[in-house]
Amino acid sequence: MSGAVETITQGNDAEQRAPDQTPEREIGRVISCDGGFAVLATSTLQHEVDSSDIWTIGRLITIAVGESRIVGLIYKLNSVDSDWEEKKSNTVQAQIELVGEIRDTKKGQPIFSRGIINYPPLGSVAHKIRSRDLMAIHLPYTKRSMVIGTLSQDDKIPAAVDIDSMLSRHFAIVGTTGTGKSSALALLMRKCLEARPDLRILLFDPHNEFSTAFPDKATVLSSDTLDLPFWLFQLEEFAEVVFRGREGLEEEMDALRDMIPEARAKFAAKQNAGGKTVRRTSDVGNISADTPLPYRMTDLFAQIEEEIGQLDGRHDRLVLKSLKTRLDALVNDPRYRFMFTARTVDDNITDVIGTIFRIPHNDLPITCLQLAGVPSEVVQSVISVLCRMAFELSMWSKGSCSVLVVCEEAHRYVPLDHSQGFGPTRLSIARIAKEGRKYGVHLGVVTQRPGELDPTILSQCSSVFALRLANDSDQDIIRSAISDSSASTISFLSSIGNREAIAFGEAIATPMRMQFMELRKEFLPGAEIFKTAEADPNNPPDIDLNTIIGKMRGMHE
Ligand SMILES: Nc1ncnc2c1ncn2[C@@H]1O[C@H](COP(=O)(O)OP(=O)(O)OP(=O)(O)O)[C@@H](O)[C@H]1O
Ligand SMILES: [Mg+2]
Repeated sequence: MSGAVETITQGNDAEQRAPDQTPEREIGRVISCDGGFAVLATSTLQHEVDSSDIWTIGRLITIAVGESRIVGLIYKLNSVDSDWEEKKSNTVQAQIELVGEIRDTKKGQPIFSRGIINYPPLGSVAHKIRSRDLMAIHLPYTKRSMVIGTLSQDDKIPAAVDIDSMLSRHFAIVGTTGTGKSSALALLMRKCLEARPDLRILLFDPHNEFSTAFPDKATVLSSDTLDLPFWLFQLEEFAEVVFRGREGLEEEMDALRDMIPEARAKFAAKQNAGGKTVRRTSDVGNISADTPLPYRMTDLFAQIEEEIGQLDGRHDRLVLKSLKTRLDALVNDPRYRFMFTARTVDDNITDVIGTIFRIPHNDLPITCLQLAGVPSEVVQSVISVLCRMAFELSMWSKGSCSVLVVCEEAHRYVPLDHSQGFGPTRLSIARIAKEGRKYGVHLGVVTQRPGELDPTILSQCSSVFALRLANDSDQDIIRSAISDSSASTISFLSSIGNREAIAFGEAIATPMRMQFMELRKEFLPGAEIFKTAEADPNNPPDIDLNTIIGKMRGMHE
């Protein structure tokens, strides 16, 4: 199926009923109406239309009222009698929510508007909805609309999103495990790049699933290939790595706070003396522990040593010795090699940012950062540093470098419980969520537990793709996110199929129940694992235990 919406034809005129034609699409009559809701009654044998096609939760129907057609969403069905007569007529009632109204222009083009002007009188006739009307309801005719699947109600009708509003006001994909979140994300990322070839995407991949999903579009960075110098970390981010989330080490932290700016100033002064001005000499005194200027670990160590040797130093000797041991262990730990490689003693910030944020992108606009196997305190700090850089990059480029930051398993980094997670990570993600729109930095969050995600982040995501959600509290979160007038759209969130979603928000014309289009197998996240899973069980692949154990040890060293 083609991506852009303009390529889709405009419905089916044959459905339009001629005035003298029998009312073959008639499906029931209004027997009650109370503003936002109505009840339809029908008898199962009364109408020619195949009722199984219409009487399904989540379907839309129309009710003819004068020149316009009121659109209703079926959210509850019941039989009036307590039992079901197989061969006889059964009376069925359908509760519907009134979601909007369709009027035809003079040229016969249907136009949908939310809200109802003319309420249906009792006895009004309900019809099966026309394809043209369904299209008018669901297709956003904006410049950068992209088709991402089909409507569940009618698979001939494309489901489309407006990529510009999806990006600028951020988006979320939520759903129980295995429902298709990661696949939907891969699809949406492809559509975003199709509509916005200037976009860069930074994807945090906690399960190393996406490396195979974008063979044509992504560079993959792992802790072996990432180069993120320690001096780019702000004090708190660096401390998270040094103290590994442990509290009660304030004195060591104070020592770092004093000494890192001195080490940075020393480096700047040396560079200036060598003719490479990194900072005006007059500004060297203003360097703080957070200024992104390089420094050498050897200078930091020398300073600690010097203070240990002083009789009345600023800090307790035992504290300094403990800090030195800690830093020593860190620098020599192979898991932190990406922070302390030999290459990082120079001011290579341009290379680092250029590589991570794909400037120039050389046709590979996605950076997929593999985080499985990386210690959690490092993951937190790395995400904090990178989200901060993404924001600053977009801000200082005045929007000419537009970045989409995607957090898979976002509840791990911005959990509901503020005592969990890492403060600076929360702040840097929240900054993108709150202010990113102004500078062209966008956020996509994916989570299986919306209830465990910080609500301020979720509330900033103006487009939501809700896949099946089994848990009541998770459903409540999504229910509160959708506007009142469409609340019943998500009453069936617990029962929709895999790959199906209820999409609503800025990027979607009207809340819709849709099915994501099928991704080619080789573009599915986790394709690597499938290959292994699909191997012949009678002829399983060799298990290289030495490599596996090496990796297990590396993780817990
Ligand atoms: N759009 C799609 N096209 C093709 N297959 C799909 C699609 N969506 C889901 N699937 C199938 O469903 C499986 C599970 O999807 P996926 O891994 O995306 O789920 P998930 O919600 O991310 O799961 P988890 O919570 O475990 O990460 C995929 O392996 C794939 O076989
Ligand atoms: Mg997944």
